[in-house]
Amino acid sequence: MNWGDIPNWSGASVASLLQILKHIEPGTYEHCLRVGEYSKQLALYAGLNEYQQKVAETAGILHDIGKASIDLDILLKPSKLNAIEYEIIKSHSLASEDFIKPLSEVHQFFKDVQPAVRAHHEFINGTGYPDKMIGDEIPLVARIISVVDTYDAMSVTRTYRAGLTDDIIYAELKRCAGTQFDKQLATIFLNSHRFWRKARTNEETQNEVVKKVS
Ligand SMILES: [Fe+2]
Repeated sequence: MNWGDIPNWSGASVASLLQILKHIEPGTYEHCLRVGEYSKQLALYAGLNEYQQKVAETAGILHDIGKASIDLDILLKPSKLNAIEYEIIKSHSLASEDFIKPLSEVHQFFKDVQPAVRAHHEFINGTGYPDKMIGDEIPLVARIISVVDTYDAMSVTRTYRAGLTDDIIYAELKRCAGTQFDKQLATIFLNSHRFWRKARTNEETQNEVVKKVS
């Protein structure tokens, strides 16, 4: 992936898919908006070009779109998941990929987005899913999403626990750099996050998505 066309209908397609998620599970919808924004920022600080930043933003927005296909009793279960439920949750990265496939068939831009979405739960040490990829086998944009997805998941307050502070999350990202996360990208995140962590509401992010459509 280097430099390519971004179709003028990409924003409308993404916004349309997002609406489905918004109606089914608003919490995941908001998470996706934030991860899209954070992915774009980390891609920028990692030195990726504008096309790649757009791929990162779009893949970040769509990474969990497949959760729209998961039973809400499992998706929102506040207690520990059993083995079967966990397998069902894990199926969401492939479901997200399925949602994007029709778009990949008509444009290279979404063909570049698709593998990053599929691989966003791969671990650098090969213990992630769905393909147990190792190191650089994992698409760069998937490695970007992995870092910011974890940041967001830990920072958000849930019914069963308060959001964690940045210092605690930074320590966890550092601890898992080189095993779960790409070491270089985790370092770039840790060094740059304070510059772009400006409070940005989901409403602002959503307005931007809609603005790009019109
Ligand atoms: Fe996910």
